Amino acid sequence: MKAKLQELIEEMKNVVIYSNDDIENFRLKYLSKKGVINDFVSQFRDIDPSQKKEIGQLLNTVKQFAQNKWEEACLNISSKSLNNESEKIDFTLPSEPDFSGSRHPLSIIENRIIGIFRQLGFVLHEGPEIEDDWHNFSALNFPKNHPARDMQDTFFIAEEIALRTHTSSVQVRLMEKQSPPIRAIMPGRVYRNEAVSARANCFFHQIEGIYIDKKVSFKDLKQTLYIFVQQLFGEKIQVRFRPSYFPFTEPSAEMDISCQLCHGEGCNVCKHSGWLEILGCGMIDPNVLKMNGINPDEYSGFAFGMGVERIAMLQFDVKDLRTYFNNDSRFLSQFKNY
Ligand code: PHE
Repeated sequence: MKAKLQELIEEMKNVVIYSNDDIENFRLKYLSKKGVINDFVSQFRDIDPSQKKEIGQLLNTVKQFAQNKWEEACLNISSKSLNNESEKIDFTLPSEPDFSGSRHPLSIIENRIIGIFRQLGFVLHEGPEIEDDWHNFSALNFPKNHPARDMQDTFFIAEEIALRTHTSSVQVRLMEKQSPPIRAIMPGRVYRNEAVSARANCFFHQIEGIYIDKKVSFKDLKQTLYIFVQQLFGEKIQVRFRPSYFPFTEPSAEMDISCQLCHGEGCNVCKHSGWLEILGCGMIDPNVLKMNGINPDEYSGFAFGMGVERIAMLQFDVKDLRTYFNNDSRFLSQFKNY
């Protein structure tokens, strides 16, 4: 053991420390609980008592050596970085004014969207984020074991209980307690079991709208959404509807707007198509009305749902969805004037 301890000192002498990473590696290897020196301390208990004094002293020397070398390196490296020109602090500069806080970009967009629909006579409604199977799926015409349920990867909390995957669940809650005419706008946070990336997150925000009355038609849906995007993006905006599928609407569509960045010429954001998808919509399936106690022979309605993050990305030219949730004040302070 004596020889090994002497070798260890030599070995430590030869370690060169240049960076903060080197410092940390040195600490982990020699000084931490699972480090080499602690191994020797454990073995020390079992050595012959006659040797204890000598080995004990040597062990202390080794420990002290490692500790000193580490402390010295810490001091050196931190004074080195202070000497670095780019990080030199000029203490005579006036201080920067404190950032006093502002609305989050997602709240700004959400409020704008709600404001537009309120002017059109839509009333605000909210529902719970933890939902049962009935409100999130079954009452919206997703039969049990139907593959359409896989369109939205669900976080289950218990059997039949999940974090809502869309705000369409709030439609159901509204239909069950109110009879038509119903005109409502329903914002909220939704959750999906997706890998987090620049374009997808495991939670995001949606705004849902419904209008149920006598003789509501697809024409009303198109006109309402057209007025909405004109107010949000400006009068020159163009829209197009593409056929789509949702279990709870028939017919279903997705609405695209002309790309705001290249004005239809083609750019990276619109993947050179000139169009951007911003929402899903359709006429509420008669079966959904029936399941929720509304007579489909008497009433019809439309519904739509959009993602707030996506619209905010277009309005503020944000490239990575994750920046919304990093709480970086350099990002957030840009929205002071909205
Ligand atoms: N709930 C749908 C989704 O999350 C969007 C939608 C809402 C589509 C209402 C049609 C009508 O993808």
